[in-house]
Amino acid sequence: MSAFDHIAARLPDAFRLLWRETVSSTNDELRVLAEQGMAEGLVLVAEEQTAGRGRRGAEWFSPKGESLAFSVLLRPSEPIVFWPQLSLAAGLAVAEALEKSVPLAEIKWPNDVLIGGNKICGILVEAGRDFVIVGIGINVNTEKFPYGLAATSLCIEHGGEVAREEVLLEVVNRLARHSKKIGARFGEVIAGVRERCYLTGQLVSLLSAEKRREGVVKGIGPVGELLVEIDGVTEGIVQADEVRVLK
Ligand code: BTN
Repeated sequence: MSAFDHIAARLPDAFRLLWRETVSSTNDELRVLAEQGMAEGLVLVAEEQTAGRGRRGAEWFSPKGESLAFSVLLRPSEPIVFWPQLSLAAGLAVAEALEKSVPLAEIKWPNDVLIGGNKICGILVEAGRDFVIVGIGINVNTEKFPYGLAATSLCIEHGGEVAREEVLLEVVNRLARHSKKIGARFGEVIAGVRERCYLTGQLVSLLSAEKRREGVVKGIGPVGELLVEIDGVTEGIVQADEVRVLK
């Protein structure tokens, strides 16, 4: 019995919840199940991760019972070339879900969701041969963060506790819909991302293909690439190790 049981019946078709008290990382545990052939739609949610991971191997801070740490198994029917679009689809799903409690959640290309410039959610998308795992960490009811972390939570922004299971349900409902839009209908996702693009207009330092460069972000291109003007030329960046806003 968990706090999440009562939302099971309200999940979209084919989506099922698997709750665990403690796991190493929800992404890692779900990968094992995916490799055993588990069907699309399994949502693994854990109270505690002992080895929660962020991008590029960073540790993920998610205090037990206060935050949401979960991973969703998808088996896209679209060609693999479109799978990276799931990062923005997931970001949009989270931003829209958070906007049930706050006026605006911004998407920091490609994987973060911010409120007022502080990070509230991190997304780690990892692919296998025939599946994708979308790992999502959301600061829901955390009130204090380690010193120096530019982070916030729904509780801080909303001004009171928020039910984690309702946030999970909102995200999964939207992810189920947006994940089906990669490829042919990706323009619908891009429109939502553009409305919430934190980086547009900002001067950034970009680390990509082992090169660090500076430029001004012009927006998001039609396939989800970050448009950055560097030395007077606008480039479409499809992958970056780091995008840092220069104040
Ligand atoms: C990042 O901001 O670098 C991504 C953070 C992703 C954290 C989530 S929490 C659930 C899932 N399991 C993990 O180990 N990581 C993701």
